[in-house]
Order: sequence, then C-alpha cells, then structure tokens
Amino acid sequence: MEEKFCRDSFTVKTSIVLPPDTNNYRTLFGGKLMAYIDDVAAIAATRHARSQVVTASTDSVDFLHPIYEGNSVCLEAFVTYTGRTSMEVFVKVIAEDMLSGNRSVCAISFLTMVAVDKNMKTVGVPRVIPQSSMEKSLNETGKDRAAARKRRKQEFAQMAELYGTAFPWS
Ligand SMILES: CC(C)(COP(=O)(O)OP(=O)(O)OC[C@H]1O[C@@H](n2cnc3c(N)ncnc32)[C@H](O)[C@@H]1OP(=O)(O)O)[C@@H](O)C(=O)NCCC(=O)NCCS
Repeated sequence: MEEKFCRDSFTVKTSIVLPPDTNNYRTLFGGKLMAYIDDVAAIAATRHARSQVVTASTDSVDFLHPIYEGNSVCLEAFVTYTGRTSMEVFVKVIAEDMLSGNRSVCAISFLTMVAVDKNMKTVGVPRVIPQSSMEKSLNETGKDRAAARKRRKQEFAQMAELYGTAFPWS
C-alpha cells in the first residue's frame, strides 16, 4: 500500500480579517472561520489522496479567543490519521495582532475527509506516516477518535430517522 508522510499534506492558509467578515463586535464571524477550516482541510486531504474529497464530518470547533478586525488569521492543516478511504485532518487556527506580534491559538478542529472518484464512489487513500512527536501523538490517538465518530454517526442517523422530514408547521 502507498504511504505518505504527514508533512506531504501540510497546508497553510493566511488572511487578514476585514469588515465584510466581522460582526458587531468587530470580530471574525464563527461561520466564516468554519468555512476557512473546511477549505484548508479539503486542500490538505486532496494533497494526501491526490483525488477528489468530500467532508464526511467536522468534530466540534471551540472558539477559544475572538479574532479581531486587523488580525491575521493563519490556519495550518495536515492529515493525521487514515482509514481505508477516510482521512482525519487536524486544523490549528492562529490569530496574530499584526502590530504587536502577539499570537494565540484561537481554535483547533478535526475533520474527516473521504476520497471519492468522479461518481462520488469512495476510493482508497495512502496510509499516513507520522514523523514528529506531535504527528505521532495525533496519529496514535486517531483510531479512538475515528471509533467515537462512528458511534456518533449511528446515534445521529437514528435521530434523523426519528425526527424525519415533516414540515414543522404541519
Ligand atoms: C462521506 C460519504 C462519501 C461516505 O460514504 P458511505 O457510502 O457512507 O461510505 P462508508 O460508510 O463506506 O464510509 C467511507 C469512509 O468514511 C467514513 N465515514 C463515513 N461517515 C463518516 C462520518 N460522519 N464521520 C467520520 N467518518 C465517516 C467511514 O468510517 C469510512 O472510513 P474508512 O473507509 O476509512 O474505514 C457519504 O456519506 C457522503 O457523500 N456524504 C455527504 C458528503 C458531503 O456532501 N459533504 C459536504 C457537506 S455539505
């Protein structure tokens, strides 16, 4: 089976926070940050798989600190763990005050991206090989997170079935 290093998928996306993307408190909209997270994770997963990918799930995103207008926001992503067709991608979000240079980790997230062909049929991905201590630690704990996601998906699928598609006013 083909193997690739975590660093082969390493992806960085940096932008400046400007008014169209801020709320009444002049901080970045959470939804905008989530879109950035999905975007950078998709690029990292595509670099790893060298095929099309879809987002299967995003684990919780905790917004640890606000990101202010004028800050830069830098997202770092790489594939940490792989199954047969799925890839776990770790995303770290760092905000930087451009004048003082103060930096803080504002959010971290794990996403699961699945490799698919042109008919959206799942396809196999290379096994990821961790090298640094951070990569090794994230890789070793990836199996448990993947198992937890499987349980969560089953639970949510049952809930979706239970609540159904009826219009709320009917
Ligand atoms: C993700 C998707 C391709 C999985 O297809 P599927 O027919 O359910 O395939 P499988 O059950 O064989 O799952 C394929 C892999 O995805 C993983 N997976 C599926 N759903 C998952 C979820 N919710 N969270 C994490 N992993 C998931 C499986 O564990 C499996 O991993 P493995 O091959 O590494 O063991 C399919 O559910 C899909 O197309 N979902 C919609 C994706 C989408 O539209 N994303 C954009 C959101 S708007």
